[in-house]
Amino acid sequence: MTTSSHSSQPATQNQTSGMWGGRFSEATDAFVAEFTASVQFDQRFYRQDIAGSKAHASMLAKVGVLTEQERDDIIQGLDTIQAEIEAGNFEWRIDLEDVHMNIEARLTDRIGITGKKLHTGRSRNDQVATDIRLYVRDEIDGILGLLHKLQTGILGLAATHTQTIMPGFTHLQTAQPVTFGHHLMAWFEMLLRDSERLIDCRKRVNRMPLGSAALAGTTYPIDRNYTAQLLGFDSATENSLDAVSDRDFAIEFNAAAALIMMHLSRMSEELILWTSAQFKFVNIPDRFCTGSSIMPQKKNPDVPELVRGKTGRVYGDLISLLTLMKAQPLAYNKDNQEDKEPLFDAIDTLRGCLMAFADMIPALVPNIEIMREAALRGFSTATDLADYLVKKGIAFRDAHEIVGKAVALGVHESKDLSELTLSQLQQFSDLITADVFDQALTLEASVNARNHLGGTAPEQVKQAIARAYTRIEQLQA
Ligand code: ARG
Repeated sequence: MTTSSHSSQPATQNQTSGMWGGRFSEATDAFVAEFTASVQFDQRFYRQDIAGSKAHASMLAKVGVLTEQERDDIIQGLDTIQAEIEAGNFEWRIDLEDVHMNIEARLTDRIGITGKKLHTGRSRNDQVATDIRLYVRDEIDGILGLLHKLQTGILGLAATHTQTIMPGFTHLQTAQPVTFGHHLMAWFEMLLRDSERLIDCRKRVNRMPLGSAALAGTTYPIDRNYTAQLLGFDSATENSLDAVSDRDFAIEFNAAAALIMMHLSRMSEELILWTSAQFKFVNIPDRFCTGSSIMPQKKNPDVPELVRGKTGRVYGDLISLLTLMKAQPLAYNKDNQEDKEPLFDAIDTLRGCLMAFADMIPALVPNIEIMREAALRGFSTATDLADYLVKKGIAFRDAHEIVGKAVALGVHESKDLSELTLSQLQQFSDLITADVFDQALTLEASVNARNHLGGTAPEQVKQAIARAYTRIEQLQA
């Protein structure tokens, strides 16, 4: 890339920009040129810019503003430029400010005066708004693919663990036994909402600003619906002032990205806890971990930790965009050029995190015995004992009180409720009989009893997984 260093000398008149130099009497200061340029980062959507220009040229030919020959020359020229860029043979020039003017200038280099006709009836204001929408649309589709991979990875792991029992937590204290499959399906639900949100966001991304021109529309007899159709937009935007200045779609996307990151960071936090020596619930394969340069025993859960850390960065990207748009008057303002980096950063960060998770999650190895042992600690079936007493005619609040006393005895004796003898339990209520162990106090009895839609019973988790596959398919339809 050509970059210019700071110059305090104003350049001479003959160096004014070829794109808009007509009314200028001196060239842009070299530092200002670099400071105001965006080509360093907006060259990323050269494909969308070229696609937009090809569609625009086709539309101009359809309405008779360009000849068919001119349209063909432009399209062919743009195809060659795309090939040059992809072969790494394109010289991006800072003095040409952005991706739009770089490509347009190169087109004129190649095909001469016809190249200068491409910008008829459009402005960079509607051009850039169109390009970013096309770009975000493509990225949403890619991210939906990554989410799908992660979701199906979770479903596969959940299907093997519908019967695996672990403690469920509230306040990070042992609460009630749950199945590991059920816990994984909670992750799945979060991520399915994320897909729904992106699909919904995509509807508002997929509207075409092109034709709004600088802010008020254009004097040429353009056919915006035709251009929209060529570019796969659902419709053309309704108001030219709004269309060139609206970045809601980028904010919505970044908000959806921030939510996905929040979900990934919650999953990360659980994985970090679960892989610790204190929990040992889960093993993350070595290829997702690193060691310590000083402590030989260490195996660190780097991927979840880094994902947890990167979450803050994506939140920052969202706040940057919201703040960027705050109090901007209509219509386009140069401020809007600052929309790109936070958007790209959110996209890159999110993609990386999803790729790592999509590979790592199906590779997790739960320690079934250790999870089960942990579920046996912490009186996780206390609620089941209370429910058992309720079924025998005791009011729930009284049952709660009785079980509380039994738990106190267990704490005193360092025993789980299932390890107390029948006669010890009967001190608290003579309604407790020998069936209490099978009916209430075992882990299996506890999870099997929660056998309703949304419950943790293995049978329910199996059905939830089966429905999940259909729900994923319906989303894609
Ligand atoms: N590089 C600019 C951006 O990213 C393109 C639009 C510039 N329009 C203008 N009138 N200066 O927003």
